[in-house]
Amino acid sequence: MNLAILGAQWGDEGKGKIVDLITPRFSIVARYQGGHNAGHTVYVGGRKFVLRLIPYGILHPGITCVIGNGVVIDTAALFAEIDELIGAGIDVGKRIVVSDKAHVILPYHRDLDLLAEARRGERKIGTTSRGIGPAYEDKIARRGIRVGDLADHAGLEQEVRDNVNARNRLVQDTTMDAKAVLDQLRQHAERLKPWVRDVSLMLAQAMRDGQSVLFEGAQGTLLDIDHGTYPYVTSSNCVAGNAAAGAGVGPDLLHYILGITKAYTTRVGSGPFPTELPMNVPGTVGHHLSTVGQERGTVTGRPRRCGWLDAAALKRSIIINGLSGLCITKLDVLDGLPEIKVCVGYELAGRRIDILPLDADEIAACVPVYETFAGWNESTFGVTRWDGLPPNARRYLERVQAHIGAPIDMVSTGPDRDHTILLRHPYQGGPDAATRKERTAC
Ligand code: IMP
Repeated sequence: MNLAILGAQWGDEGKGKIVDLITPRFSIVARYQGGHNAGHTVYVGGRKFVLRLIPYGILHPGITCVIGNGVVIDTAALFAEIDELIGAGIDVGKRIVVSDKAHVILPYHRDLDLLAEARRGERKIGTTSRGIGPAYEDKIARRGIRVGDLADHAGLEQEVRDNVNARNRLVQDTTMDAKAVLDQLRQHAERLKPWVRDVSLMLAQAMRDGQSVLFEGAQGTLLDIDHGTYPYVTSSNCVAGNAAAGAGVGPDLLHYILGITKAYTTRVGSGPFPTELPMNVPGTVGHHLSTVGQERGTVTGRPRRCGWLDAAALKRSIIINGLSGLCITKLDVLDGLPEIKVCVGYELAGRRIDILPLDADEIAACVPVYETFAGWNESTFGVTRWDGLPPNARRYLERVQAHIGAPIDMVSTGPDRDHTILLRHPYQGGPDAATRKERTAC
């Protein structure tokens, strides 16, 4: 049984902890899109790791970690992660597999990312400046460099020279030296070689042998290049369908699709956000969510914008991904709020709508319609049973479930893997294996 896990909002939903919880059930974890713009901070044995490219499964002995063709790879960033892991005594050896079809991020992509943002002025996307967008641009324009191309010295040299020349025509204050880029790339190619494989074939063989795969998405559904709040999006498809295309497997092999959502909403970077709250004034809800939830970006350290849960946006996410179930994270952050709101639709140009539109201007014009609930004073931190939650917290979750029309299968009540209420097993049997009535602890 394979499972795809992905963010149902604008990223940073707390996937890392859930991935950590369920990873031991799988033999392989495969990333299928994005690059080192994503990031999980993980503490193991008191030591901090920030993983951006390598799936988090690397911290679990015996699990193979795959970087699929849909990912864009900054080889320097990848090696920095590998070195940190080796330094901490983690066996990386043969446990990393990199697709020969994944595209490489080169230094000129970072410069072009910064240039594009500077040119957008007021309309800037707020990218992570990691060169992600320009690397995907080159892929689509068929001038990208793939991991498998690194061995072809003649072809590689021409392609890199052309790309560096193009960069030098656009970026006027500095000149990049193609030879330096090539020299570094060749060194990196040598080091990368033992990990490079035909991932599609490798996964097909592994699944034939009865191994199960966890497909791990990055960013979040509403940052998807097609289905997100364009143009304020990342440059890849974050949706579940891309787990198949970005790893080279058939879509019928995605047996269960788990969407992760916070009990509220956050967003980093620019773009419309209907339920956003002001965050700077102590004593306000926005300030509470930001501080209690410790809402700062893992990659850039930027404060995340915060607001109420948007059930109308989740509805969109459920449709786009075909989510089998949801995990609600950081429920405990809502503890102590006197009242809690959930956006159940919007007023848009005199009309009432109950699902997020995807045109950025339309979203910006949406006025949220809220349903308000009484909060709870009890702590939900670390609760592991449904019946251990305060009645108002249960009511809140039940109403959210009714509004979005998809099952809440897990609730996370704290950062530890034990701080989890499991309502329906996503990874035991098929999606319908457990009944909704069995609200038991993990
Ligand atoms: P890019 O992916 O660096 O091109 O950035 C495009 C948009 O996606 C910006 O608004 C970023 O803040 C956002 N973004 C990229 N990666 C993440 C992530 O892992 N979590 C949340 N937002 C992200």
